[in-house]
Amino acid sequence: MDDHDRPHCPGILINLDKIPRVSLASLPTPLVEVPRLAKEIGLTTLFLKRDDLTGFAGGGTKVRKLEYDFAEILANKNDVVLTAGGVQSNHARLTAAAARRFGLDAKLVLGGPPFTSFDGNLLLDVLFGASIRFLPNDDENDHLTSAMTAWADELKMNGAKPYISPIGGSTGLGALGCVAEMREIAGQMIPHQRLQIVLPVGSCGSFAGILLGAKLFLPNARIIGISVSRTSAAIEKRTLEIINECCGLMDIPPALDDIAVESYDQYVLEYGIPTEEGQRAIIRCAHLEGILLDPIYTGKAMAGLIDLVHRKKLDSSVPTVFIHTGGLPVLFSFEPEFRKLADCKNC
Ligand SMILES: Cc1ncc(COP(=O)(O)O)c(C=O)c1O
Repeated sequence: MDDHDRPHCPGILINLDKIPRVSLASLPTPLVEVPRLAKEIGLTTLFLKRDDLTGFAGGGTKVRKLEYDFAEILANKNDVVLTAGGVQSNHARLTAAAARRFGLDAKLVLGGPPFTSFDGNLLLDVLFGASIRFLPNDDENDHLTSAMTAWADELKMNGAKPYISPIGGSTGLGALGCVAEMREIAGQMIPHQRLQIVLPVGSCGSFAGILLGAKLFLPNARIIGISVSRTSAAIEKRTLEIINECCGLMDIPPALDDIAVESYDQYVLEYGIPTEEGQRAIIRCAHLEGILLDPIYTGKAMAGLIDLVHRKKLDSSVPTVFIHTGGLPVLFSFEPEFRKLADCKNC
């Protein structure tokens, strides 16, 4: 066991590596320092954990979760995988791609405002040959989930063996991918260093895995979630449920009382709608570091990080890691928001 693999909870044996996992991502993803951005926003040291570079089908942190889900799917001998989400869901795109990677069918229930062109993730869903059922003007999780369950029932009646992956793929099993990610980050940092780690939070699976992984591998890290949809109270409830599930799978005591679930929900106006601050954060990151964020997840989370530094809620002298969870295809579905920036002669 390397030093960074050693769990910091006395008496706890990490059973993570015994849990079946397939390989989809190129790991470890780079941890890169971004000094110009750090200086501009007032941090001494800022790193980006480049999960946008997980390398599979457009990348993103969700690939880490799918490595555990697809081990289960293959063991169950499912022949079709269903999931649901917003029209620009990264999880849906990656689930469709992973299904194809293993020769399975993919079915997606997507909801939201009617769209005029198949762009961003939707275009990739089409390329991966996923069948789509669209719920116009409806992004209620319960409605999407019922439509998906009804579709799975139809498939079963026709002799198929469907697997349902919930919205965002946020289950205890999938979150193990982010527990493992914290072991990866621990191996890339100076051991026992104080750290602040910031990431976007949607359906809470990534946040849950990162929080539990911090407890096990990076106990001096403070984890800060920036909501892209839910209230902080709803985040805390769901995150602790997922952590509890993860602990059950790893056969370790949950000890939820020592986990501080710190999240901020004021940087999202509405899920799926870009904010001005988020757009400014995207432009800053692109101009200063040549790195691309997206308007729905990472741009809003970066805007939150910047504001928390300005309001001194983050300690500017403590090294900070921003988890770049991916989402690049989403950027291409927001062309009207960014076209005004074009500095282009004769166009
Ligand atoms: C790019 C990106 N970042 C962050 C998140 C949020 O992750 P989670 O749903 O695990 O909270 C998502 C969820 O879809 C995502 O696609």
